[in-house]
Amino acid sequence: RFSAQSIIYLDNILRPYITHVTHRGHALSSLHIICIALRFLANGSFLYNIGDAEHVSKATVCRAVRNVTVALKRLLYSFVVFPGHRPTRFIKEGCHKIAGFPGVIGCTDGTHIPIIAPSVNEGDYVNRKSFHSIKVQIICDAANIITNVEAKWPGSVHDSQIFRECTLSTKFGHGEFTGYLLGDRGYPCLPYLLTPYPDPEPGPQQRYNLANCRTRARIEMTIGMLKARFQCLQRLRVTPERACDIIVACVIL
Ligand SMILES: *[C@@H]1O[C@H](CO)[C@@H](O)[C@H](O)[C@H]1NC(C)=O
Ligand SMILES: *[C@@H]1O[C@H](CO)[C@@H](O)[C@H](O)[C@H]1NC(C)=O
Repeated sequence: RFSAQSIIYLDNILRPYITHVTHRGHALSSLHIICIALRFLANGSFLYNIGDAEHVSKATVCRAVRNVTVALKRLLYSFVVFPGHRPTRFIKEGCHKIAGFPGVIGCTDGTHIPIIAPSVNEGDYVNRKSFHSIKVQIICDAANIITNVEAKWPGSVHDSQIFRECTLSTKFGHGEFTGYLLGDRGYPCLPYLLTPYPDPEPGPQQRYNLANCRTRARIEMTIGMLKARFQCLQRLRVTPERACDIIVACVIL
């Protein structure tokens, strides 16, 4: 799922932070450590399967994943930038092209990443579909580029609460951005976060809902792509804190 060139790029930016993982007394190259971690993230198999494929122990895979995810996390705000790396005008144009909705600079949605039952505060992680998960908020633009991620809440928390308490909503409240986010009805309707009418009347309200929904399909597609590329997100067998770091690492990648 990565080209040789992109793995070399990752090695160049991550090498300073991942030089000390050893396997049976031998130091592994940073490139090898990155490949082990990428295989784990993309494949989603058990640690010992990944270890077999890479000829290293399960413990080494575990350390490699930990080291690479921590190293990636330091780069979060270099890669995941809201409303994006491009000028806001281009981001709005991209969203407008989907269904004619003007002024949109991002679409937000929540998704569950299943985890194993944690030993602390286990009940908080049980979501309304009755499995343990981390609830993640993701925002993307029209090009399926993730521009914001909040991965720190247990599965039982609602989209509206995550949004209310995220830094981005404070920044929107202070008028730092010119434009709107689109969200589904799990979100509150705010001057900068537009949600669908619950009972739209024929005409403008229905057309508004349709454009809102068609534009928002972009975030559902983006989340689907993320989970398909990084199979580990089907279920993480680690503590909630580590799961959050892995989710953020996948978003950065
Ligand atoms: C990760 O790499 C750093 C070197 O920057 C090292 O100090 C640390 O022990 C490594 N962590 C693990 C879990 O191997
Ligand atoms: C994970 O790796 C195994 C063994 O190499 C392979 O059979 C399987 O198809 C891989 N899964 C994915 C999703 O790539």
